[in-house]
Amino acid sequence: MTTNGAENNELSRRRTFGIISHPDAGKTTLTEKLLLFGGAIRTAGAVKSNKIKKTATSDFMEIEKQRGISVATSVMGFEYNGYKINILDTPGHKDFAEDTYRTLTAVDSVILVIDSVKGVEEQTRKLMDVCRMRSTPVIVFINKMDREGLEPFALVDELERELGIHARPLTWPIGSGARFQGVYNFYKNHLELFAPNKTGISEDIVSIEDLSDAVLDEQLGSSAADKLRADTALIDGVYEAFDADHYRDGYLAPVFFGSAINNFGVRELLETFVTIAPPPQARETSTRLVDPAEEAFSGFIFKIHANLDPNHRARVAFCRVCSGRFERGKFYHHTRLQKELRFPSPTSFMANETSIVEEAWPGDVIGLYDTGSFKIGDTLTEGEDFVFKGIPSFSPEIFKELINRDPFKSKQLEKGIRQLTDEGVAQLFIHPQGNKKIVGTVGELQFEVIQFRLLQEYGARCDFESLHVYKACWFTSTDAEQLDRFEKRYARHIAEDKDGHPVFLAEESWTIKTVKEAFPDVELHFTSEFKIDAA
Ligand code: G4P
Repeated sequence: MTTNGAENNELSRRRTFGIISHPDAGKTTLTEKLLLFGGAIRTAGAVKSNKIKKTATSDFMEIEKQRGISVATSVMGFEYNGYKINILDTPGHKDFAEDTYRTLTAVDSVILVIDSVKGVEEQTRKLMDVCRMRSTPVIVFINKMDREGLEPFALVDELERELGIHARPLTWPIGSGARFQGVYNFYKNHLELFAPNKTGISEDIVSIEDLSDAVLDEQLGSSAADKLRADTALIDGVYEAFDADHYRDGYLAPVFFGSAINNFGVRELLETFVTIAPPPQARETSTRLVDPAEEAFSGFIFKIHANLDPNHRARVAFCRVCSGRFERGKFYHHTRLQKELRFPSPTSFMANETSIVEEAWPGDVIGLYDTGSFKIGDTLTEGEDFVFKGIPSFSPEIFKELINRDPFKSKQLEKGIRQLTDEGVAQLFIHPQGNKKIVGTVGELQFEVIQFRLLQEYGARCDFESLHVYKACWFTSTDAEQLDRFEKRYARHIAEDKDGHPVFLAEESWTIKTVKEAFPDVELHFTSEFKIDAA
């Protein structure tokens, strides 16, 4: 059953997205400028970066303090021209990349920020891999045009080549660095003139009939105007025309140029974004496709943030609403635990303020206080049993054995590591031989986080010993005999994940190649959700 018109409006006006970038490309600055345009904040500097500064790597408390800041800025909601916009923040630090990957499961689209001086960087590639896997629509914002950057055609080429997407510029820069004059907007046929402006939100806009308009020469000088005309002819010849459906299918990425720090190009980005970006979409579950316009509420947990107070084990579980209307105080069905739960004080996030909400709609994210009922990927419904798909674990990159340093506290250690891994701090694999616990993460920082929190919150002392493991691969096979031979041959390297699924811990990249050759019918998967992996 679907909802009435007013409720459909709540649905169609929502835009939930993430801003992703390699650290330092300008994600925090752009977020802040979007909030300024939306009137959610009044002054620059109001958004705290949740970036973990490089100098902090050896100072664990500093990291935790910075992570604390990120709770408040995890979701930033604001109203703009009748749209309800939810920006989901993603940690910039690569050691928290898995947090970012999971947050991307809760968005409907992303804005990718690229530094015009540096072009595509390491984290950009990884994040785009995740977006491509889910066909997430992407808008690219090429930032820092006030600096002497790479040539714009070279930048767009690099995007296409390195990120495996089709790009279509919707604005085009006129010069860069000290000679940056502004951008031409193909979508609206106007010229936006650049003036450094770090505080206000105004832009100088000149409308033109078409590119042959003499106003162009008056404004830019004839050589820059001619270059723009030549560039435009080339763009029209080389890139396919912009088609919003291709963008929404995750096939074509519109590209904007600007300078976030100068508030330049941000309004254009926002205005285009609200018109073309998708509202909440139907989502796949274990039993059926759930339409956001269905009357019954459903949602899933994509992030859990621990309270840092050791005497108080409350956590905040972030729930993305997928369908229906969430109501405060109503009982909802936790499908994994088969339990009915009530949330008396669900929280919403508006810029850097949190408040209790009475209701929430698809696309919204609510914070639910939890004392241990949730793990990442859990589904809430109004009674129907299903689980949302597409919240996989990814293969970690660093593996260490967890060593108990206090035999009297082994129960606490066991409980602690299970709860921390439920929160998604790291992944836990158990080797059947000797019940060896292997912790896998994407960065060294998490080991510090785990060691500290196990001691503080559970009183359990531990160490980590490095293991020689390259990747963890989940595996399946349709050939039982081959699967059996594989499991016997690699018994020493097979552990179980927390849910009891077998995982192959490959020592080297070539081990994977060897396995593929020797056991062609054994399929190795690099995420725990095989259907997505295979897509
Ligand atoms: P991040 O969240 O992606 O890590 O990047 P962030 O916004 O923190 O920006 C990284 C640096 O780039 C900051 O400088 C910021 O001021 C600068 N920046 C952002 N947008 C632009 C732009 O359009 N042009 C130029 N020239 N710089 C830009 P910082 O020196 O690292 O920090 P801060 O002291 O300025 O805060």
